[in-house]
Amino acid sequence: MSSDTTENTGFDLTKGITLADFGDQQLLRGQVGDEPIVLVRTGNEIMAIGAHCTHYGGPLEEGLVVGETIRCPWHHACFSLRSGEALGAPAFDPLLCWKVERDGERVFVHNRISPAAQPELLIAVTDRPKNIVIVGGGAAGFACAEMLRRRGYQGHLTMLSEDTDAPCDRPNLSKDYLAGTAPEKWMPLRPDDFYKDNHIDLQLGTVVQHIDTANHRITTKDDRSILFDRLVLATGAEPVRLPIPGQDSAHVFTLRSFSDSRRIIEHAKNARTAVVLGSGFIGLEVAAALHTRGLAVHVVSLDQSPLQNVLGSKLGNFIRSLHEAHGVTFHMETSLTNIESESVTLSNGDKLTADLVILGVGVRPRTALAESAGLNVNKGILVDEYLQTSVPGIYAAGDVARWRDEASRQALRIEHWVVAERQGQVVAENLLGANKKFQDVPFFWSVHYDLTINYAGHAQSWDTIEIDGDIAARDCLVRYQRNGVTTAVAGIGRDKQILEFAAASA
Ligand SMILES: Cc1cc2nc3c(=O)[nH]c(=O)nc-3n(C[C@H](O)[C@H](O)[C@H](O)COP(=O)(O)OP(=O)(O)OC[C@H]3O[C@@H](n4cnc5c(N)ncnc54)[C@H](O)[C@@H]3O)c2cc1C
Ligand code: FES
Repeated sequence: MSSDTTENTGFDLTKGITLADFGDQQLLRGQVGDEPIVLVRTGNEIMAIGAHCTHYGGPLEEGLVVGETIRCPWHHACFSLRSGEALGAPAFDPLLCWKVERDGERVFVHNRISPAAQPELLIAVTDRPKNIVIVGGGAAGFACAEMLRRRGYQGHLTMLSEDTDAPCDRPNLSKDYLAGTAPEKWMPLRPDDFYKDNHIDLQLGTVVQHIDTANHRITTKDDRSILFDRLVLATGAEPVRLPIPGQDSAHVFTLRSFSDSRRIIEHAKNARTAVVLGSGFIGLEVAAALHTRGLAVHVVSLDQSPLQNVLGSKLGNFIRSLHEAHGVTFHMETSLTNIESESVTLSNGDKLTADLVILGVGVRPRTALAESAGLNVNKGILVDEYLQTSVPGIYAAGDVARWRDEASRQALRIEHWVVAERQGQVVAENLLGANKKFQDVPFFWSVHYDLTINYAGHAQSWDTIEIDGDIAARDCLVRYQRNGVTTAVAGIGRDKQILEFAAASA
């Protein structure tokens, strides 16, 4: 190495580096004072950005450069290398950008570049919406509102949410927050001031009951009317409830909202045993979180192996063994026939003690509002590539939207955080005249104890699963293939390859 380095932070960029220091790498970690920086080489140009993703702090030197953007290895946030703007969720805050200076062979970094004004995107004056109403205060609704203001929309912006909390980090409700390792203050996507400062009229605890498409008016449950020029439906999905006797008892919960998670935590404080029905992502994450809280946890599921429909049985069984190693007990290929006050009865006749029961058997899209308004609905609100519904001027995004996916030539409805946020962002830009198709490759992550699984693409079914690496060694890339084509990949410890797959499939 021709320049000063420190073990943790890389090159001291105030002393300069040479191109040779990059070796065959495109990304190089360095520092200016205490500020960690990543240098990015694209062709002959070198750019400098903050080293940590503004979402959860992912290490951008392990990310992927695509054109003039960099993608975070952890949850695929996309940043502009020139302006630092968080172009694609789940990050919303920009990266710091630094000025790169050259002196002969050497490259130095000393100073920050002042943040660039974000480009505005406004449609022809005659068609500019004066009132945009967003129904839903979740991932898609929040991302839409945030992007509308970021792109310079100055009209009225109303966000109506049945939730009693402002938009929050919903994925965390079954992970660190439920486990007690993330404090409450980490949960809001933005502090309360954000809505006030950005003139977003966020009305919480507000249920929209009716849409009058002809008169551009919605009615709330408390009988208020609100007019709109453009409407965004981001009503998400709701947990499925099975007709199990006892499911209405006070110790039985589903998990969707911040208040659901708080209620479960309150109840868990006096509980010693929990039964989780369902071995999907939420069921298993809840099992891990409650185990971390010291409860004895049993998972009951109709499936042969956990997550087998999404990840296949090998990866599913590995995740099962991980939970078992932590002390979670599985009861597979069975269900609950009855929930009693301190126990449950399984369909195989077994009885388990249960101070707490969580039903995690999937969700269904909240389409009732759209359906009663006459919008086309079929297993989700049907939208085109631009995420517009069958009624012009009304858009849908997130878990509730079933969009026409050009790449796979099928209608897709996906229940992933990043997909919902990115759809919200595309809707915002289309409301301002961008005419942008939603073409992102679906991506999600799931966390079990200290193990994170990342997944990109969408494989409803497959004829072959190819495993590269060793699942048990937590180093694997699993390819889901149909007719020789890989439609999705899942990985442990293979973040870069998953980023590459997503970029190549876009
Ligand atoms: C516990 C949990 C953990 C998760 N973990 C992950 C994960 O690790 N990775 C991942 O990719 N995805 C995860 N997901 C899925 C992800 O959270 C969803 O895909 C995402 O929240 C969908 O966003 P949305 O905006 O479509 O819906 P939501 O975020 O559910 O928001 C819907 C909003 O609409 C409101 N609403 C509905 N109907 C009305 C009405 N009539 N009037 C007013 N308001 C209404 C609701 O109150 C809510 O505010 C998780 C989900 C949960 C519940
Ligand atoms: S930490 Fe970068 S996207 Fe989450």
